Amino acid sequence: MNIIDIIVKKKNKEALTEEEIKYVINSFVSGEIKDYQMSSLLMAITINGMTDEETIFLTKYMLDSGSKLDLSMFSNVVDKHSTGGVGDKTTLIISPIVASLGCKVAKMSGRGLGITGGTIDKLESIPGFNVNLTKEEFINELKSVGMAITSQTDTIAIADKKIYALRDVTGTTESIPLIASSIMSKKIASGSKNLVLDIKVGEGALIKNIEDARHLANLMIKIGKSNNMKVICILSNMNIPLGNNIGNSVEVLEAINILYYGINNNLTSLCIELASHMVSLGLNISYEEARTKVINAITSKEAYNKLLEFISYQKGDINRLPKSSKIYEIKSDREGYLTNLSSLELAKLSGLLGASRQSKEETIDYSAGIIINKNINDKINIGDTILTLYTNKESIPNININKLFTIGGTPNNHYTLIYEIIKD
Ligand code: URA
Repeated sequence: MNIIDIIVKKKNKEALTEEEIKYVINSFVSGEIKDYQMSSLLMAITINGMTDEETIFLTKYMLDSGSKLDLSMFSNVVDKHSTGGVGDKTTLIISPIVASLGCKVAKMSGRGLGITGGTIDKLESIPGFNVNLTKEEFINELKSVGMAITSQTDTIAIADKKIYALRDVTGTTESIPLIASSIMSKKIASGSKNLVLDIKVGEGALIKNIEDARHLANLMIKIGKSNNMKVICILSNMNIPLGNNIGNSVEVLEAINILYYGINNNLTSLCIELASHMVSLGLNISYEEARTKVINAITSKEAYNKLLEFISYQKGDINRLPKSSKIYEIKSDREGYLTNLSSLELAKLSGLLGASRQSKEETIDYSAGIIINKNINDKINIGDTILTLYTNKESIPNININKLFTIGGTPNNHYTLIYEIIKD
């Protein structure tokens, strides 16, 4: 087989065979296919797409390129994955809720890159927290705490690691078959048979429109089915940040506060929705029954206690969360209602303050970030603080406040948190 013929075939919009896909993945991992050849194929796939059958084969051989975790000793394992958003600390809130109700939450998470944050960076902002568990430590924690979160090991879906690194620098991150195979190969390898996917849609997300989100959801459900995995997809709004805090330690703090105080905002609503589907899958009960349990786990503080137990098991000390040396407040110069917050612009600003990395080599400032002091549709007076910025940089970047948020004359009645739920 020859990679050039395969590239040309995809350039001509033809479907690749199972044998061709197997050859591409195995030869790319072995180094026989070069980065420039793979980049060319990835671009042809991004432009011309893949059939569902091709994507299922692609996922299979990406999955087979690495090791697989066997969690068959547990009967009620559930996993959750988000396609990446701004202020998305749902994993930190949902996992303890679901674990406190008797499910096992086994999560391998990643780091953030560009505007999307990563759970591992957020956890690493807690002094002492160990994000590199061995397989034995991971399983033992699942047995005793009911949840464990570790950095993705280098042995899982090796092909995805190599392909993802290329996609990041070749303008091929937004291809639906490539996203579906990337996520599903890792999730299947992680050992859970139940998965809730939070597909973010909007300016602060990889997927910008609802049609693409539906396509991705249906494709991942199909891939799950062919791998004996139940998948439920929630399509949620990522035009506005999730919750009020964007950064790393500020997001950990928000997760703790949500579970302690039971704060009611868009973040809590989404967490309740995601957790209810996870519990329904994990315990094999109805959605309504699961939802009642989820709300009880928050109000009884069982979920809060589970979060503390988990952090302390992985050696984190929440009393020593890092604090930035500089704090700036951004105030409103007009009166009205807070009608919009731009997740994209706020994420970029948070990055400039030091909270995210633009390349894999960069270090991040765990204490940097933004707290949004008002919620959508709050009444705003002149001089009200809308945003508080945290940084260790000597000065804050030049900011066009009008791009970050909008103060309008009337409340915004068009905001929708969850567009739809797609399941088999
Ligand atoms: N998350 C992944 O793991 N892969 C993608 O391609 C997109 C989001």
